[in-house]
Amino acid sequence: MLDFKNNKSRCIFDIGTNKIVCLIYDITKGNLNVHEWSHKQSLGLNRSKILNMDKVSKSIIDTTKEIKKKIDKINVNITDIDFLSKKKYSEINIGGIKISKKEIRRSFKKSLQNSNLSQKNLIHSIPLNFIVDGTQSYSDPFGIFCNNLGVNTFNIWINTVILKNLESCFRNANILIENSIDTSFASAEACLTEQEKIIGSTCIDLGAGSAKIATYFKGVLEYINYVPLGGNDVTNDIQRGLEIPKDLAEYIKIIHGNIEYTNEKNFKINLTNGKEKIITQNFLHGIIKPRYEEILEIIRDKLQDNLVTKIGVNNIVLTGGASQIPGLINFASKIFNRKTRLSRPQTEFNFLNKPEFSTCVGLIKMKSDLDLKKIIKSVSNNKVFNLMESFDNWVKESFM
Ligand SMILES: Nc1ncnc2c1ncn2[C@@H]1O[C@H](COP(=O)(O)OP(=O)(O)OP(=O)(O)O)[C@@H](O)[C@H]1O
Ligand SMILES: [Mg+2]
Repeated sequence: MLDFKNNKSRCIFDIGTNKIVCLIYDITKGNLNVHEWSHKQSLGLNRSKILNMDKVSKSIIDTTKEIKKKIDKINVNITDIDFLSKKKYSEINIGGIKISKKEIRRSFKKSLQNSNLSQKNLIHSIPLNFIVDGTQSYSDPFGIFCNNLGVNTFNIWINTVILKNLESCFRNANILIENSIDTSFASAEACLTEQEKIIGSTCIDLGAGSAKIATYFKGVLEYINYVPLGGNDVTNDIQRGLEIPKDLAEYIKIIHGNIEYTNEKNFKINLTNGKEKIITQNFLHGIIKPRYEEILEIIRDKLQDNLVTKIGVNNIVLTGGASQIPGLINFASKIFNRKTRLSRPQTEFNFLNKPEFSTCVGLIKMKSDLDLKKIIKSVSNNKVFNLMESFDNWVKESFM
């Protein structure tokens, strides 16, 4: 049996609207080794939000039944449509000495102080750059003599109740959440290349219940957002439009769905009452296209509303289960008027290299990456301490 402490095997969970994934892995010499994994249909969520805690707890327990390893602590994604994100600048006086780990730590601690907001939990505080004596900006300020050291951070808060509900569902399965990581952040980490992050790119994870948006510019995370619409809305439209059961609507979407091309061809579906129904490709297209158009246009408008995303986004990278509809890349590139591609995670494990597993792979990457921009913890108690601990690890790994 594997032992977490001895071989540093870890566990991540992706809690999605349609599926829950549990994966046990370790990273040895930079290589991912997947020990075990299990995924199940999730129950009790709607639009990426927990609605029924008993059902979510049961889904978690069912998922872990197939795992031999005893799971105690995990890293999990968290989706809060009503999150809050804000950039923050804070400064300390260091009196003309050389910047060392201690000063960096103090500057970050100052930044974390006064970050507590009522009924919200800070889950990520990402240093964007350091400002030395008010003018010069550095990503690595070590060894510089200065009077004032400032740090710019990008901060993400979620509503405390969202975290408490998630913690409670896992507690019912005797599992403790060690880190909760914003879903859009995790998916973007799995999908964007370093070059895309530098030139300015937005990753859009089109899931079952929501679209998760994350923009990088000049190599750092600048923006996240959510739209509470996803592939399930497309399925629901087909169900209503064709007056057929949901399972059949999902099947038709996957087999015959297409967003760009339309033709007069017919296809036949067998109904549960033994009858047949003839559907034209045109009719199906007329149901699917407007919903995808709506979702993408809402995202485009959100990107237009923010200065950085308005001018800084050169590439659109689509991922998530619902990104697999044929014709989407061309369609999306016209809506965004940007170079657009479909991204699936690139690992040595073929079963993971699918758009719906981007969040999972992002969670693995973020936990193992040495770059501070990809770490950061959240635990409801003693938040600042945990953020500081992550920060210390980053300083040690990055600069020492
Ligand atoms: N080939 C396909 N064409 C169109 N849609 C697809 C295809 N394959 C899967 N989907 C859709 O993808 C969605 C599931 O995606 P995913 O697994 O990323 O969602 P999730 O992680 O469970 O949910 P979320 O992240 O939104 O909470 C479903 O709506 C499903 O119908
Ligand atoms: Mg998902």
